Amino acid sequence: MDPETLRERAATALLAARDRTRLLTTCVEEPDLLAQHSPLMSPLVWDLAHIGNQEEQWLLRAVGGRDPLRPDIDSVYDAFEHPRAARPSLPLLAPAEAHGYVAEVRGRVLDVLESTPLRGGPLLDAGFAFGMIAQHEQQHDETMLITHQLRRGPAALTAPAPPVTSDGILPTEVLVPGGPFTMGTSTEPWALDNERPAHHRPVRSFLMDTTPVSNGAYQRFIEDGGYDEPRWWAPEGWAQVREHGLRAPLFWRHEGGRWLRRRFGVTEPVPTDEPVLHVSWYEADAYARWAGRRLPTEAEWEKAARHDPASGRTMRYPWGDEEPTPAHANLGQRHLQPAPVGSYPEGQSPLGVRQLIGDVWEWTASDFLPYPGFAAFPYREYSEVFFGGPYKVLRGGSFAVDPVACRGTFRNWDLPLRRQIFSGFRTAADADI
Ligand code: AVJ
Ligand code: FE
Repeated sequence: MDPETLRERAATALLAARDRTRLLTTCVEEPDLLAQHSPLMSPLVWDLAHIGNQEEQWLLRAVGGRDPLRPDIDSVYDAFEHPRAARPSLPLLAPAEAHGYVAEVRGRVLDVLESTPLRGGPLLDAGFAFGMIAQHEQQHDETMLITHQLRRGPAALTAPAPPVTSDGILPTEVLVPGGPFTMGTSTEPWALDNERPAHHRPVRSFLMDTTPVSNGAYQRFIEDGGYDEPRWWAPEGWAQVREHGLRAPLFWRHEGGRWLRRRFGVTEPVPTDEPVLHVSWYEADAYARWAGRRLPTEAEWEKAARHDPASGRTMRYPWGDEEPTPAHANLGQRHLQPAPVGSYPEGQSPLGVRQLIGDVWEWTASDFLPYPGFAAFPYREYSEVFFGGPYKVLRGGSFAVDPVACRGTFRNWDLPLRRQIFSGFRTAADADI
């Protein structure tokens, strides 16, 4: 790609992230920016200044070679120094200062982008550092949307429902033929370190659900006594059910003989045709066992999403190599909920698997581990320090993640008990051939 196109891409990605950040940090009043809405989350104003501080460190200092603007606040916004629960008591920038800080950093970064050659090292090549920082901001925009979902009080954000795109009855599952495929990437310019390098993975034949598991299907698990039956649950999952009295996904409640959910400040009936959302890995795992199935491994998920059986090639996305458009997938906070299962025919894989990208993050059976040949870049704290921990991998991205931070190779991870995230799942099974 020529340098001008690359610069434009980088500038566009940074701008899109900032528009989103601005909306998420101006749609509520100051007290709601400073408050801690859940011990699982930072105050919104911490995310805001952390976004600016990461941008200062990587784009102004490391790439631009500029003098530090606010070195005094590096420590306050270092995610490793302060767990989320402790962040409200830090000497945080006030909302107006934080807005001023991120704007000042951005102004200087755009000068750096104009004057820096986008080649000559891994941080510069293809504008990697700019893409990384745009993704970082969008990741925090998803985090801030989770904070908004946890916040009590009247709605501050609204969006239209996803368009109706389903086109009739689908098979419930497809056979993904066995054989090696190329997992990960060595060519995707803005792929993060944990997605690299491309490597061959053997995968046996397996059956994959064509859609994520719906709320209606999940209700059958609940009504069949799923939360009362230890035999469906991993031991730690069962302990969580007992300790917290879990009966249903987070934000659901049973009232007047039906299930209601709270979604961004509004209480509404649970739509049976939407993918189930706000379940932990343990809930996904228990449902799959109850259904006589299992969660797909991460390699199975990626093969279903990227392998084209006709050509034997690994594609960037289920639909091919083009960037996502609104016709392919529900991404980017255009809608504040997943689309009904079976939506987005234009985004399906060659085998007819739908909604792999967008709608809900999908729990996989796999632990978060490095690929063979992994090299931490540009900092160990992005991925490496989490490998081999208690984390499970999620794939595909939710309605809340921007296309810049979502690819066929993109890997997300979280603790198996987490359910405030925009998480759902689909199931798989061994094929007897
Ligand atoms: C990849 C979503 C697990 O939010 O903890 C943000 C992304 N890393 N800032 C997270 C991230 C550093 C990360 N996840
Ligand atoms: Fe961060």
